[in-house]
Amino acid sequence: MSVDEHGWAGGRPLVGVLHPGAMGAALGSALKPVASAVVWAAAGRSQATSKRAELADLVGVPDVTAVARRCDLIVSICPPHAAEDVAGQVADALPGRTGPPPLYLDANAVAPAAVRRIVERLGPGATVLDGAVIGPPAWRPGSTVLWLAGPSSVALAGLFQGSPFEARVLGTAAGDVGAASALKACFALQSKALPAIWAALAEAADRAGVRDALEGELRRTGVDLSERLAGLSERVGPKAWRWAGEMEQSAVALADLGVPDGFSLAAASVYHRLADRSNED
Ligand SMILES: NC(=O)c1ccc[n+]([C@@H]2O[C@H](COP(=O)([O-])OP(=O)(O)OC[C@H]3O[C@@H](n4cnc5c(N)ncnc54)[C@H](OP(=O)(O)O)[C@@H]3O)[C@@H](O)[C@H]2O)c1
Repeated sequence: MSVDEHGWAGGRPLVGVLHPGAMGAALGSALKPVASAVVWAAAGRSQATSKRAELADLVGVPDVTAVARRCDLIVSICPPHAAEDVAGQVADALPGRTGPPPLYLDANAVAPAAVRRIVERLGPGATVLDGAVIGPPAWRPGSTVLWLAGPSSVALAGLFQGSPFEARVLGTAAGDVGAASALKACFALQSKALPAIWAALAEAADRAGVRDALEGELRRTGVDLSERLAGLSERVGPKAWRWAGEMEQSAVALADLGVPDGFSLAAASVYHRLADRSNED
Protein backbone atom coordinates (compact mmCIF):
# COMPACT_ATOMS: atom_id res chain seq x y z
CA MET A 1 0.00 0.00 0.00
CA SER A 2 1.42 3.41 -0.91
CA VAL A 3 1.28 6.66 1.00
CA ASP A 4 -1.41 7.90 -1.40
CA GLU A 5 -3.56 4.90 -0.64
CA HIS A 6 -3.22 5.76 3.04
CA GLY A 7 -5.15 8.92 2.28
CA TRP A 8 -2.91 11.35 4.13
CA ALA A 9 -0.53 12.20 1.29
CA GLY A 10 -2.17 15.60 0.82
CA GLY A 11 -2.89 15.94 4.50
CA ARG A 12 -0.83 15.46 7.61
CA PRO A 13 -0.15 12.01 9.05
CA LEU A 14 -0.44 11.29 12.74
CA VAL A 15 3.04 10.00 13.59
CA GLY A 16 3.95 7.72 16.51
CA VAL A 17 7.52 7.29 17.76
CA LEU A 18 8.46 4.08 19.61
CA HIS A 19 10.37 5.41 21.48
CA PRO A 20 11.80 8.89 21.97
CA GLY A 21 15.36 7.97 22.93
CA ALA A 22 18.15 10.22 21.66
CA MET A 23 17.43 9.24 18.05
CA GLY A 24 13.65 8.88 18.37
CA ALA A 25 13.27 12.38 19.83
CA ALA A 26 15.24 13.83 16.91
CA LEU A 27 13.32 11.81 14.28
CA GLY A 28 9.98 12.73 15.86
CA SER A 29 10.95 16.36 15.99
CA ALA A 30 12.01 16.27 12.32
CA LEU A 31 8.52 15.06 11.36
CA LYS A 32 6.60 17.66 13.38
CA PRO A 33 6.31 20.21 10.53
CA VAL A 34 4.55 17.66 8.27
CA ALA A 35 2.57 15.74 10.90
CA SER A 36 -0.81 16.52 12.44
CA ALA A 37 0.96 15.52 15.66
CA VAL A 38 3.88 13.35 16.75
CA VAL A 39 2.94 11.11 19.66
CA TRP A 40 4.85 8.74 21.94
CA ALA A 41 3.76 5.94 24.28
CA ALA A 42 4.37 6.68 27.94
CA ALA A 43 3.74 3.23 29.48
CA GLY A 44 6.92 1.56 30.71
CA ARG A 45 9.27 4.34 29.66
CA SER A 46 11.78 6.02 31.95
CA GLN A 47 11.89 9.56 33.24
CA ALA A 48 14.73 10.26 30.78
CA THR A 49 12.55 9.32 27.80
CA SER A 50 9.63 11.33 29.16
CA LYS A 51 11.88 14.37 29.59
CA ARG A 52 13.29 14.01 26.03
CA ALA A 53 9.77 13.76 24.63
CA GLU A 54 8.72 16.86 26.54
CA LEU A 55 11.75 18.82 25.33
CA ALA A 56 11.04 17.74 21.73
CA ASP A 57 7.40 18.81 22.22
CA LEU A 58 5.96 15.37 21.40
CA VAL A 59 2.47 14.46 22.61
CA GLY A 60 2.16 11.64 25.14
CA VAL A 61 -0.45 8.89 24.70
CA PRO A 62 -0.93 6.11 27.26
CA ASP A 63 0.67 3.11 25.56
CA VAL A 64 1.80 1.31 22.40
CA THR A 65 -1.78 0.14 21.77
CA ALA A 66 -2.91 3.76 21.41
CA VAL A 67 -0.06 4.44 18.94
CA ALA A 68 -0.80 1.28 16.93
CA ARG A 69 -4.54 1.98 16.69
CA ARG A 70 -4.37 5.69 15.86
CA CYS A 71 -1.17 6.56 13.99
CA ASP A 72 -0.78 6.72 10.20
CA LEU A 73 3.00 6.33 10.47
CA ILE A 74 4.70 4.41 13.26
CA VAL A 75 8.47 4.81 13.64
CA SER A 76 10.21 2.06 15.60
CA ILE A 77 13.52 3.41 16.92
CA CYS A 78 14.70 1.60 20.03
CA PRO A 79 17.59 -0.62 21.15
CA PRO A 80 18.23 -3.27 18.47
CA HIS A 81 17.39 -6.20 20.78
CA ALA A 82 13.91 -4.71 21.41
CA ALA A 83 12.91 -4.11 17.78
CA GLU A 84 11.01 -7.37 17.28
CA ASP A 85 9.29 -7.07 20.65
CA VAL A 86 8.09 -3.54 19.81
CA ALA A 87 6.80 -4.79 16.45
CA GLY A 88 5.01 -7.61 18.29
CA GLN A 89 3.31 -5.14 20.63
CA VAL A 90 2.10 -3.15 17.62
CA ALA A 91 0.94 -6.33 15.84
CA ASP A 92 -1.08 -7.38 18.91
CA ALA A 93 -2.88 -4.03 18.95
CA LEU A 94 -3.61 -3.74 15.21
CA PRO A 95 -6.79 -5.90 15.17
CA GLY A 96 -8.54 -3.17 17.19
CA ARG A 97 -7.67 -0.52 14.61
CA THR A 98 -10.46 1.05 12.56
CA GLY A 99 -8.51 3.15 10.01
CA PRO A 100 -6.44 1.91 7.05
CA PRO A 101 -3.24 -0.01 7.78
CA PRO A 102 -0.42 2.24 8.99
CA LEU A 103 3.06 2.57 7.57
CA TYR A 104 5.55 0.99 9.98
CA LEU A 105 9.14 2.16 9.67
CA ASP A 106 11.65 -0.06 11.44
CA ALA A 107 14.62 2.31 11.67
CA ASN A 108 16.65 0.15 14.04
CA ALA A 109 20.15 -1.22 13.62
CA VAL A 110 18.94 -4.81 13.15
CA ALA A 111 19.83 -7.62 10.78
CA PRO A 112 17.80 -7.83 7.52
CA ALA A 113 16.42 -11.18 8.73
CA ALA A 114 14.93 -9.40 11.75
CA VAL A 115 13.19 -6.88 9.47
CA ARG A 116 11.77 -9.73 7.40
CA ARG A 117 10.41 -11.36 10.57
CA ILE A 118 8.83 -7.99 11.47
CA VAL A 119 7.13 -7.93 8.05
CA GLU A 120 5.71 -11.40 8.77
CA ARG A 121 4.70 -10.47 12.32
CA LEU A 122 2.78 -7.37 11.22
CA GLY A 123 1.27 -9.18 8.23
CA PRO A 124 -1.28 -7.30 6.14
CA GLY A 125 -2.11 -5.10 9.14
CA ALA A 126 0.70 -2.66 8.28
CA THR A 127 3.05 -1.71 5.44
CA VAL A 128 6.60 -2.22 6.68
CA LEU A 129 9.53 -0.09 5.53
CA ASP A 130 13.13 -0.82 6.35
CA GLY A 131 15.20 2.11 7.63
CA ALA A 132 18.71 2.70 8.90
CA VAL A 133 20.16 5.84 10.41
CA ILE A 134 23.79 6.70 9.72
CA GLY A 135 25.01 9.64 11.77
CA PRO A 136 24.10 11.14 15.15
CA PRO A 137 20.63 12.30 16.28
CA ALA A 138 20.14 15.25 13.93
CA TRP A 139 18.83 18.63 15.05
CA ARG A 140 20.18 20.49 12.02
CA PRO A 141 20.96 19.33 8.47
CA GLY A 142 24.32 18.01 7.35
CA SER A 143 25.20 15.13 9.65
CA THR A 144 22.76 12.29 9.28
CA VAL A 145 21.18 10.17 6.58
CA LEU A 146 18.06 8.05 7.00
CA TRP A 147 18.27 5.23 4.46
CA LEU A 148 14.94 3.74 3.38
CA ALA A 149 14.03 0.58 1.51
CA GLY A 150 10.74 -1.07 0.72
CA PRO A 151 7.25 0.02 -0.28
CA SER A 152 6.37 3.73 -0.02
CA SER A 153 10.04 4.64 0.60
CA VAL A 154 10.02 7.50 -1.90
CA ALA A 155 6.86 8.99 -0.43
CA LEU A 156 8.17 8.62 3.12
CA ALA A 157 11.47 10.22 2.13
CA GLY A 158 9.40 13.20 0.96
CA LEU A 159 8.15 13.74 4.51
CA PHE A 160 11.75 14.38 5.61
CA GLN A 161 12.46 16.94 2.89
CA GLY A 162 13.96 20.08 4.40
CA SER A 163 14.34 18.38 7.79
CA PRO A 164 17.62 17.75 9.67
CA PHE A 165 17.54 14.15 8.38
CA GLU A 166 18.47 13.59 4.75
CA ALA A 167 16.31 10.67 3.61
CA ARG A 168 17.76 8.52 0.82
CA VAL A 169 16.05 5.59 -0.85
CA LEU A 170 18.08 2.53 -1.69
CA GLY A 171 17.70 1.90 -5.37
CA THR A 172 17.67 -1.88 -5.40
CA ALA A 173 15.54 -3.33 -8.15
CA ALA A 174 13.00 -4.79 -5.75
CA GLY A 175 13.30 -1.95 -3.24
CA ASP A 176 14.00 -4.81 -0.87
CA VAL A 177 12.98 -4.60 2.74
CA GLY A 178 16.26 -5.46 4.48
CA ALA A 179 18.54 -3.51 2.15
CA ALA A 180 18.78 -0.48 4.47
CA SER A 181 19.57 -2.74 7.41
CA ALA A 182 22.21 -4.59 5.37
CA LEU A 183 23.84 -1.26 4.53
CA LYS A 184 23.90 -0.30 8.21
CA ALA A 185 25.38 -3.69 9.18
CA CYS A 186 28.22 -3.23 6.66
CA PHE A 187 28.82 0.38 7.75
CA ALA A 188 28.92 -0.73 11.40
CA LEU A 189 31.92 -2.95 10.65
CA GLN A 190 33.83 0.29 10.02
CA SER A 191 32.16 2.52 12.64
CA LYS A 192 31.96 0.06 15.54
CA ALA A 193 33.96 -3.13 14.85
CA LEU A 194 37.18 -1.39 13.76
CA PRO A 195 37.32 0.90 16.83
CA ALA A 196 36.86 -2.17 19.07
CA ILE A 197 40.25 -3.37 17.86
CA TRP A 198 41.92 -0.37 19.57
CA ALA A 199 40.24 -1.28 22.86
CA ALA A 200 41.21 -4.96 22.48
CA LEU A 201 44.85 -4.31 21.64
CA ALA A 202 45.21 -1.83 24.52
CA GLU A 203 43.75 -4.34 26.98
CA ALA A 204 45.97 -7.15 25.68
CA ALA A 205 49.09 -4.95 25.93
CA ASP A 206 48.12 -3.92 29.49
CA ARG A 207 47.75 -7.54 30.53
CA ALA A 208 51.04 -8.52 28.89
CA GLY A 209 52.79 -5.58 30.57
CA VAL A 210 53.87 -4.12 27.22
CA ARG A 211 51.52 -1.12 26.97
CA ASP A 212 54.26 1.55 26.98
CA ALA A 213 56.32 -0.32 24.39
CA LEU A 214 53.25 -0.83 22.22
CA GLU A 215 52.26 2.83 22.44
CA GLY A 216 55.83 3.76 21.45
CA GLU A 217 55.82 1.41 18.48
CA LEU A 218 52.41 2.67 17.36
CA ARG A 219 53.56 6.30 17.67
CA ARG A 220 56.70 5.47 15.68
CA THR A 221 54.41 4.16 12.91
CA GLY A 222 52.08 7.15 13.04
CA VAL A 223 49.30 5.96 15.39
CA ASP A 224 48.46 7.70 18.68
CA LEU A 225 46.77 4.98 20.75
CA SER A 226 45.66 7.33 23.54
CA GLU A 227 43.97 9.53 20.97
CA ARG A 228 42.20 6.53 19.39
CA LEU A 229 41.00 5.30 22.78
CA ALA A 230 39.84 8.77 23.83
CA GLY A 231 37.92 9.08 20.56
CA LEU A 232 36.29 5.71 21.20
CA SER A 233 35.26 6.43 24.78
CA GLU A 234 33.90 9.82 23.69
CA ARG A 235 31.75 8.16 21.02
CA VAL A 236 30.64 5.05 22.88
CA GLY A 237 30.10 6.81 26.24
CA PRO A 238 27.36 5.04 28.19
CA LYS A 239 26.06 3.33 25.04
CA ALA A 240 28.42 0.33 25.07
CA TRP A 241 25.53 -2.09 25.76
CA ARG A 242 23.66 -0.79 22.69
CA TRP A 243 26.78 -1.00 20.51
CA ALA A 244 27.17 -4.64 21.62
CA GLY A 245 23.60 -5.36 20.49
CA GLU A 246 24.23 -3.66 17.17
CA MET A 247 27.39 -5.72 16.60
CA GLU A 248 25.43 -8.92 17.30
CA GLN A 249 22.87 -7.90 14.69
CA SER A 250 25.67 -7.02 12.28
CA ALA A 251 27.13 -10.51 12.82
CA VAL A 252 23.81 -12.13 11.88
CA ALA A 253 23.63 -9.96 8.76
CA LEU A 254 27.14 -10.93 7.66
CA ALA A 255 26.69 -14.63 8.41
CA ASP A 256 23.47 -14.64 6.37
CA LEU A 257 25.50 -13.20 3.48
CA GLY A 258 28.18 -15.87 3.86
CA VAL A 259 30.77 -13.37 5.14
CA PRO A 260 32.79 -14.13 8.32
CA ASP A 261 30.95 -12.75 11.34
CA GLY A 262 33.85 -13.03 13.79
CA PHE A 263 34.84 -9.35 13.60
CA SER A 264 31.37 -8.27 14.66
CA LEU A 265 31.09 -10.91 17.39
CA ALA A 266 34.48 -9.97 18.82
CA ALA A 267 33.47 -6.30 18.79
CA ALA A 268 30.21 -7.23 20.56
CA SER A 269 32.21 -8.95 23.26
CA VAL A 270 34.53 -5.90 23.63
CA TYR A 271 31.48 -3.63 24.07
CA HIS A 272 29.83 -6.02 26.56
CA ARG A 273 33.01 -5.78 28.66
CA LEU A 274 33.04 -1.98 28.42
CA ALA A 275 29.37 -1.92 29.48
CA ASP A 276 30.06 -4.23 32.43
CA ARG A 277 32.92 -2.00 33.52
CA SER A 278 30.88 1.19 33.30
CA ASN A 279 28.15 -0.52 35.40
CA GLU A 280 30.78 -1.32 38.03
CA ASP A 281 31.98 2.33 38.13
N1 LIG B 1 22.18 7.57 19.02
C1 LIG B 1 22.87 7.42 17.91
O1 LIG B 1 23.90 8.06 17.69
C2 LIG B 1 22.36 6.47 16.82
C3 LIG B 1 22.93 6.56 15.54
C4 LIG B 1 22.46 5.73 14.53
C5 LIG B 1 21.46 4.81 14.81
N2 LIG B 1 20.92 4.73 16.06
C6 LIG B 1 19.88 3.71 16.30
O2 LIG B 1 18.74 4.27 16.95
C7 LIG B 1 18.15 3.33 17.82
C8 LIG B 1 17.91 3.96 19.17
O3 LIG B 1 19.12 4.54 19.65
P1 LIG B 1 19.10 5.74 20.69
O4 LIG B 1 20.45 6.34 20.66
O5 LIG B 1 17.91 6.61 20.50
O6 LIG B 1 18.95 4.92 22.06
P2 LIG B 1 18.50 5.50 23.47
O7 LIG B 1 18.78 6.96 23.60
O8 LIG B 1 19.09 4.56 24.47
O9 LIG B 1 16.90 5.35 23.46
C9 LIG B 1 16.28 4.12 23.37
C10 LIG B 1 14.77 4.32 23.56
O10 LIG B 1 14.17 3.02 23.51
C11 LIG B 1 13.58 2.75 24.78
N3 LIG B 1 13.85 1.38 25.21
C12 LIG B 1 14.86 0.92 26.00
N4 LIG B 1 14.75 -0.41 26.19
C13 LIG B 1 13.63 -0.78 25.52
C14 LIG B 1 12.97 -2.02 25.35
N5 LIG B 1 13.45 -3.14 25.89
N6 LIG B 1 11.84 -2.03 24.62
C15 LIG B 1 11.37 -0.91 24.05
N7 LIG B 1 11.96 0.30 24.18
C16 LIG B 1 13.06 0.35 24.90
C17 LIG B 1 14.19 3.73 25.75
O11 LIG B 1 13.24 3.95 26.78
P3 LIG B 1 13.67 4.03 28.35
O12 LIG B 1 14.15 5.41 28.54
O13 LIG B 1 12.41 3.72 29.07
O14 LIG B 1 14.75 3.00 28.56
C18 LIG B 1 14.43 4.94 24.89
O15 LIG B 1 13.27 5.71 24.76
C19 LIG B 1 19.09 2.10 17.84
O16 LIG B 1 18.58 1.07 17.02
C20 LIG B 1 20.38 2.66 17.29
O17 LIG B 1 21.19 1.70 16.69
C21 LIG B 1 21.34 5.54 17.07
